[in-house]
Amino acid sequence: MSTRRSGKVVGPCPSLDSIGPEILKQFPHLFNPLNIGNICIRNRVFISAHTTVLAENGGAGEKLIAFLEAKAKGGAGLIFTEAANAHPSGSENLHELCCWEPFFPEGLKKLRERLDLYGTILFVQLFHSGGGGTHAGMMEKSPNIQPSNIPLVCQGLVGTSHALRLEEVEDLIEGFAKSALICKDNGAHGVEVASSHGYLIHRFLSPMHNHRADRFGGDFNKRLNFLREILIAIRKKVGDGFPVGVRISCDDYIEESLSNEDVINICKTLDQEKLVDFLDITGSHEFIDRSLIHHYAVMDDKLGHMVPEVSNIHKNVSVPVLHAGRIINPRQAEDILAAGHIDMAGMTRASIADPNFLKKTIEQREADIIYCVGCAQACMGRVNNSQHVTCFQNPFTGREHVWGELTNTTNRKKIVVVGGGPAGMSFARIAASRGHEVSLYDDHYELGGQVLLAEQMPLSLELGTMARNLSRQVYQAGVEVCLNTSATSETVMAQNPDEVVLATGSKPYLPQNVQGIDQGHVFTLERAFTQSNLLGDSVLLIDNDGHQRGASTAAWLIKIGKKVQVVTEFSHIGSNFEMSLLRVRIYQIFFKNKIPLYPHYRLIEIGRKSVFFKDNYADTDLEIKGIDSVVVLYPPIAQTELEKALRATGKNLHLIGDCLTPRNIEYASFVGARLARSI
Ligand SMILES: Cc1cc2nc3c(=O)[nH]c(=O)nc-3n(C[C@H](O)[C@H](O)[C@H](O)COP(=O)(O)O)c2cc1C
Ligand code: SF4
Repeated sequence: MSTRRSGKVVGPCPSLDSIGPEILKQFPHLFNPLNIGNICIRNRVFISAHTTVLAENGGAGEKLIAFLEAKAKGGAGLIFTEAANAHPSGSENLHELCCWEPFFPEGLKKLRERLDLYGTILFVQLFHSGGGGTHAGMMEKSPNIQPSNIPLVCQGLVGTSHALRLEEVEDLIEGFAKSALICKDNGAHGVEVASSHGYLIHRFLSPMHNHRADRFGGDFNKRLNFLREILIAIRKKVGDGFPVGVRISCDDYIEESLSNEDVINICKTLDQEKLVDFLDITGSHEFIDRSLIHHYAVMDDKLGHMVPEVSNIHKNVSVPVLHAGRIINPRQAEDILAAGHIDMAGMTRASIADPNFLKKTIEQREADIIYCVGCAQACMGRVNNSQHVTCFQNPFTGREHVWGELTNTTNRKKIVVVGGGPAGMSFARIAASRGHEVSLYDDHYELGGQVLLAEQMPLSLELGTMARNLSRQVYQAGVEVCLNTSATSETVMAQNPDEVVLATGSKPYLPQNVQGIDQGHVFTLERAFTQSNLLGDSVLLIDNDGHQRGASTAAWLIKIGKKVQVVTEFSHIGSNFEMSLLRVRIYQIFFKNKIPLYPHYRLIEIGRKSVFFKDNYADTDLEIKGIDSVVVLYPPIAQTELEKALRATGKNLHLIGDCLTPRNIEYASFVGARLARSI
């Protein structure tokens, strides 16, 4: 490995003694310490900034500290705080970090103390949204500000903005510098300036947003001045030796804005002018959907998808280059580092799914890692709805402050679980690991429930990883798993359980009042998939569910060569997606394949070759002709056939997951875990 970026170790660098020689041999790059400025980082894994909605009063309280502490304990070398607003015009949402809030310094000091326990380095991300951010609080309280007076017509931005006057720009620069000093004085080892993802500084860099005629706008060099002056002002305040870096998108992935080449030039300039100690390279302009999708990617995309563009930057600069973007397992990180593409691997959602992924690697327990599947559902999806971050596979994440560590039970019980989907598995693994004697019944030959169907569909292929993550843990926790077994109340009672948990999931629903719904050419998703040989060439998909299943079904039908049309009662296809990325991808597929879409229409009648609808507003008729097969998707209904018989036994009975209320995987694994902690 090149050592050109590692100088003399001047800071305390925790020893590698606790890592066995076998692991060091397998991961020589991952566990090689790195110097950034005066700071030595114990390994090459960092956690990039990620907003959590766990901050309190503008600072890090116990919720956020416990969340980040779990990652430090799990072995991460360097942790960035989430975006910390560097100027009062940024936001007044107190569930975010705000450097000027009175509570911020105290919270930062406490956070540093906690990370010090594990030898983890703490950097703060200094940020200004420019307003128009994704959170309601931002939009309500901060006017949008922009380099220039240009109405914003992108998917993620709202309306017009206030064009910054010169003295306002200068005040912002001062704000960043003051904020950096607050961070330095209160425990941060370093800071980075967020200049990425279409937020304020990025907009100064981009010719698409910056039409200014003063020293902050015009050619490449002038557009760089806002960032340049921020970095100079920060250095003046914090002095030498304190690491200052920049987070920047490697490419905006849209013609109108910055290309990879433009960003290489920016990074080269920052490096040559000695304005940065490191570069944290990310990607995309988040306010434009077709660009945003490059940042997070969807489940079916390649891992490490932005590495080529980042590597181009790495080749042109001398400071360490950090990068996060679908690096999900330590072996993948080792390979990217070994190839010399980057100097540190960001594994952010990897740590949300499993804060202990590195510890497990060190302990030679890679099989125990809960690998992130890239759904962006319970992390990004929730945060975008102003709910605290978590993971749909790991409900402990984001709840560390309330749930704490699992405790062993003092009252060991015999528990029978019926149903091996996400809810049943989530319950069984946690109850068993607390010391209960757990038996799990499922009528399939493999654990996973409906996830096993989903994993065979485009856009949700990685859900199989999720099922296997959970099922591995079920076996490892010592659960007695009885597959191919349709449990009855007799089977259950034969075990003489203290508690019974029903997790039998949901089943498809077809509205029986619709004339023609019972015909052979009308399919549920499940039947369409298992009897796809019966589908004709021209397939009409009626998606009145609006969740990921509908998108995956459409993508699957297109993939197997059907002539597809899609109708929904909702305002658009995918209106109930938890995360907008999948909507972007499915619309890319729809438009590329010229798929006719009919939003706002409710189903009236299914004929042999035609299907009849009425619109939701004026009741006008729509007849879609020439249809061979119809696939109908409604929200599923709870499958509770066993409930009555089990209630009659008088045993303690708990219903969890879809068989209580059909919702999503996140809900299923959350309620399973919540019950298992309390029983
Ligand atoms: C819940 C969530 C919040 C995020 N908030 C921020 C943020 O505050 N600032 C930032 O620069 N990036 C933010 N990101 C982007 C991450 O830093 C990272 O670039 C992205 O998750 C891709 O890396 P990964 O695949 O390792 O997760 C956020 C990501 C997630 C999942
Ligand atoms: S919710 Fe999905 S993307 Fe987010 S951390 Fe969990 S598995 Fe990864």
